[in-house]
Amino acid sequence: MKRAFIKSYGCQMNVYDATRMADQLTASGYEMTDKADGADLILLNTCHIREKAAEKVYSELGRLKGEGGLIGVAGCVAQAEGEEIIRRQPRVDFVVGPQAYHRLPALIAAAEKGQSPVETDLSDDKFQSLAAPQRRAVTARGVTAFLTVQEGCDKFCAFCVVPYTRGAEVSRPVADIVAEARQLAEAGVREITLLGQNVNAFNGADGGGRASLAGLLAQLAEIDGLARLRFTTSHPNDMSEDLIAAHRDEAKLMPYLHLPVQAGSDRVLKAMNRKHTADAYRELIARIRKARPDIALSGDFIVGFPGETDADFEATMALVEDIGYASAYSFKYSPRPGTPAATRTDQVPEAIMSERLQRLQALLTTQQKAFNRACVGRTMPVLIEKPGKHAGQWVGRSPYLQPVHIPEGAGSVGDIVEVAVHAAEGNSLFAEPAGRRVAA
Ligand code: 5AD
Ligand code: SF4
Repeated sequence: MKRAFIKSYGCQMNVYDATRMADQLTASGYEMTDKADGADLILLNTCHIREKAAEKVYSELGRLKGEGGLIGVAGCVAQAEGEEIIRRQPRVDFVVGPQAYHRLPALIAAAEKGQSPVETDLSDDKFQSLAAPQRRAVTARGVTAFLTVQEGCDKFCAFCVVPYTRGAEVSRPVADIVAEARQLAEAGVREITLLGQNVNAFNGADGGGRASLAGLLAQLAEIDGLARLRFTTSHPNDMSEDLIAAHRDEAKLMPYLHLPVQAGSDRVLKAMNRKHTADAYRELIARIRKARPDIALSGDFIVGFPGETDADFEATMALVEDIGYASAYSFKYSPRPGTPAATRTDQVPEAIMSERLQRLQALLTTQQKAFNRACVGRTMPVLIEKPGKHAGQWVGRSPYLQPVHIPEGAGSVGDIVEVAVHAAEGNSLFAEPAGRRVAA
């Protein structure tokens, strides 16, 4: 049997896409392997979000060029650079964009004949064209799974490549999502994270009408065996009332929300084309916290957007101080070819970006530690995911997405157990079964 290896970079959607590409490959006679060495097909599933992510692909291709098998480039670099990839690295046999991976078998067949096909059509509905996911390949690899429900973005933030690499917003029909979620649940999955570049703008066909993300969550919550639901990632302007209410009313929806704001200065937010102010974000967070007071908030930040002054950056620090994040991701601005901000002449010097990033990350780390410390002494349900680093230990997730280490005797993988948290270290919590503590 021929063996295929997929390496994924970037976001969770790429992780999900890799499972769907694996579906395609196993259906056409490949066996998946976790080693590039000796594989008959190597597929790099790439990310274009920041320059470093894209450059990684070319250095990996340089390393792989001595391998014997076919080499394909998939994902967002494939979409953004197309034929340029083969020009820069002629060892690449084919290029397939993220909306075209249902064409994978045909592209491989063409590459085997010595052609170098490049397929970056954005107009197809790949979900329609993909075979129904096979149960085995639908990540029965664990008790948690990703499920893409929406792709693409219509927001056009001035820094972002996503509208160009993933195309316009498209939501999958509710019935297809529910069917896929049922298969996952039957395969033992307890928690599903719904994915979309702008997932809270979800607007999927449902019977004769349309369903919002809250409507979709309500239907998924009825699936037996499925205990937890999450979604990522969202835009503040699409945080509708029904979705906020779902955080209050839907017991299976976990109290964690990734809601990027990117910056705290109105001037920068405007230049970024974010379409909201810093105060609008503060008010939104207040309404969400009213619905779900214990919600863990997460966000993304960019420092050094073109034209960002010291005062603008201080406004970001002030916003972070006001909100209090449980976790967050922060990045230096990276000009992306084809985006409006890339051609601005007022780019911020690297040294200033580094200094700002360091200060912001120090603040965010302090907040994360404070959030974790506040969990010590509390009891909470933990979904047991897998063995921990040390013998006799499981690792699971809290409702707030923190890794929690518990003794093995607490239950089995897939169980949700009530635990008492006794320590917070690094990004993790340490706990013991709540029952045992009460008995002791
Ligand atoms: N430069 C730096 N960070 C970026 N992001 C997106 N585009 C860029 C860019 N050009 C960050 C944003 C986004 C996250 C996924 O990546 O914070 O929310
Ligand atoms: Fe990277 Fe964005 Fe593509 Fe995800 S969608 S892989 S973050 S460029």
